[in-house]
Amino acid sequence: MTVDLKGRPFLKLLDFAPDENRHLLALAAELKDKKKSGARGRALDGLNIALLFEKPSTRTRCAFTVACIDEGAHPEYLGKGDIQFGKKETVADTARVLGRMFDGVEFRGFSHQTVETLAEYAGVPVWNGLTDDWHPTQFLADVLTMQEEFGDLKGQTLAYAGDGRNNVANSLMVGCAKLGMHCRIVSPEDLFPEPDLVAAVKEIASTTGGSLSVTSSVEDGVRGADAIYADVWASMGEEDLIAERIRILGAYKITEKMMALTGKPGTIFLHCLPAFHNLDTEVSAKNPDIQEVEDAVFEGPQSRVFDQAENRLHTIKAVMVATLGN
Ligand code: CP
Ligand code: NVA
Repeated sequence: MTVDLKGRPFLKLLDFAPDENRHLLALAAELKDKKKSGARGRALDGLNIALLFEKPSTRTRCAFTVACIDEGAHPEYLGKGDIQFGKKETVADTARVLGRMFDGVEFRGFSHQTVETLAEYAGVPVWNGLTDDWHPTQFLADVLTMQEEFGDLKGQTLAYAGDGRNNVANSLMVGCAKLGMHCRIVSPEDLFPEPDLVAAVKEIASTTGGSLSVTSSVEDGVRGADAIYADVWASMGEEDLIAERIRILGAYKITEKMMALTGKPGTIFLHCLPAFHNLDTEVSAKNPDIQEVEDAVFEGPQSRVFDQAENRLHTIKAVMVATLGN
């Protein structure tokens, strides 16, 4: 089947068919090889790309910026405080203005509805660089990293331990189901994913050979897993929940003991980053118990977190090239 994603927004994985996801991964691998060989691309030659950020970012911002420059486009960073967006101008009006000047728009922020509205009104491709509900470009980097490690993704098992209802968990559940992978969400019951989403994901998985399970048992959740995945316990915007999350998520911290519980010596550790794994950040120095992963695992031989971070570049580039490129 020929996959053509030209002109499409990239807002959430629910909108993309399994073949379309596989196409993006194949393109990302190709673009990665091209970059490693030293070749420069021109797939986005002469285009102007707006990068709109309500929340902070290191990887996503840098990946979009470098991907633009690698392929000949001009990226323009627009922090929320720098433009009228949301204060003196509606999202729909901002979208129509950006769409008249730019060829594509990336958005990172709070409400998922904002990125949907941007896409509805901009008239150019809009890409979701993270909202409260979804982080779809992150998922592509996560599974590209697994593909590089294990080959064919179909049948691979990924266990995510932590806040089971955040943007990263939601995206992993949907994305894994689309690709015929087995996803386990391992979290306390208070943080189980939305039942409607679980039902929708199980429905998708039933058509692809994948599966989804949700459990509060670490032993059951990680047994046989090919990858164990962690995210921060309190996402951006949830800073006032840190104490509560430390209380309910302490048992879900990724430890060497938990890695061993998979029963597979080849299990890899993944994290979207940024991560709390020592006391060397302002936040972890103030909240020493906030660590979602032991330093020994983060820095250990099973960790692939920096390959995964690099893959943000190649996968984000693939999304832009597929939806907008020549
Ligand atoms: N993983 C991720 O989205 O990182 P940033 O918040 O640094 O963009
Ligand atoms: N769940 C995290 C992901 C950061 C990349 C957050 O939203 O802050």
